[in-house]
Amino acid sequence: MSTSSSPMIDPNLIRSHFPIFQHHPDLVYFDNAATTQRPQTTIDAVSKFYSQRNANIHRGLYSLSTDATAGYESGREKVKDFIGADTVQSIAFTKGTTESINVVANSFLGPRLQPGDNVVISAMEHHSNLIPWQQICLQKKAELRVIPVDKSGELGINNIGDFLDSKTRMLAITHISNTLGTINPVERIVEIAHKNQVPVLIDAAQSICLHPINVDTLACNFLVFSSHKMFGPFGVGVLYVHPDHMEDMLPYNYGGGMVTHVDFHKSSFMAYPHNLEAGTSAIAEVFGLSSAIDYLNNIDRLEASDYVHGLAHYFKERLAEVGTAVVVGSPENCAGIVSFLLDDIHPHDVATFLAEENIAIRAGHHCTQPLLEQMGVKATLRASFSIYNTREEIDHMIAVLKKIQKFWA
Ligand SMILES: Cc1ncc(COP(=O)(O)O)c(C=O)c1O
Repeated sequence: MSTSSSPMIDPNLIRSHFPIFQHHPDLVYFDNAATTQRPQTTIDAVSKFYSQRNANIHRGLYSLSTDATAGYESGREKVKDFIGADTVQSIAFTKGTTESINVVANSFLGPRLQPGDNVVISAMEHHSNLIPWQQICLQKKAELRVIPVDKSGELGINNIGDFLDSKTRMLAITHISNTLGTINPVERIVEIAHKNQVPVLIDAAQSICLHPINVDTLACNFLVFSSHKMFGPFGVGVLYVHPDHMEDMLPYNYGGGMVTHVDFHKSSFMAYPHNLEAGTSAIAEVFGLSSAIDYLNNIDRLEASDYVHGLAHYFKERLAEVGTAVVVGSPENCAGIVSFLLDDIHPHDVATFLAEENIAIRAGHHCTQPLLEQMGVKATLRASFSIYNTREEIDHMIAVLKKIQKFWA
């Protein structure tokens, strides 16, 4: 990993694409794991849809509606190319990562999960990639198995096979931990799972933005992510389903837009992905997501992730100067996310103090309560970086952290 600034990424130029920084010139935004900021192009795409192309899709025969349908469906095509899927039929639009996981747990897994079966997750999962599996296992009297993390915040990759057996019906795992920044070796994990005939869902919420993902190479069965973590709008996300499973995806919600025939006593449904898009979709948001993908396609994402990982590395180096500050977890392969503590000062106090200096970071359990319990802490401070962040911003935060420490001494 490079620890120097990447010559290809110009954070100040990138910053100029994101209008939030013109409205808040002093804002230091280090909460990118929660949601990224949006470039003007994403905002314009949503606004342009409403002002110039607004109509409902898939139903109208007039040109405004057929044009809106074409734009929405070309968004599906763009997502397909972005993740290297073979067919556009693999891509369903959902509300986000959370809904995509719930769909797989209930629509795909639910009907085939039997008492005595098991589902495997890791201890570093976001609650969204834990509770849906936990609940379906409770309903079906199946077992939820959890691969533990070690002190450094890594999974014992060589032991993953020990958690899988002939009764394992799903392995659901995050690509990047939203709390510790751990980058899991997902290719290897998929290989191990497939050797055991276990399908794999990859939670790409934290990786999709800056880490190129090719589902064909990765060979995962399901991939899920949210638009708002990749410079796109809120309210829309993606569920990728491998062609082998498309026929197994049963409707999750029922309503208009997903049927072939309805009478009072029975209905028949369209095939996946349309059977999972009941009701009116987040149409303008798909236009915005499509524009966000254009934005991402215009930057070198390997350079971008290297740049952001470099920021995290630099932050950890500088944090060592702040007396008794401790980083929680030390994964070898780490993304642009750092959890840390400042003495025994409550993370909420530190985050509030930082907020007064216009520095936005997260404090709390980051929707990973069981993980923090395993790491022996209740809450952490979390700084998460993106391509518009700079070393100067980190220097500023370090200076404020030193001030906080003095204040509490
Ligand atoms: C790893 C991970 N999975 C799932 C989610 C849930 O994403 P959403 O709230 O967009 O559905 C998040 C959100 O922070 C996340 O970081």
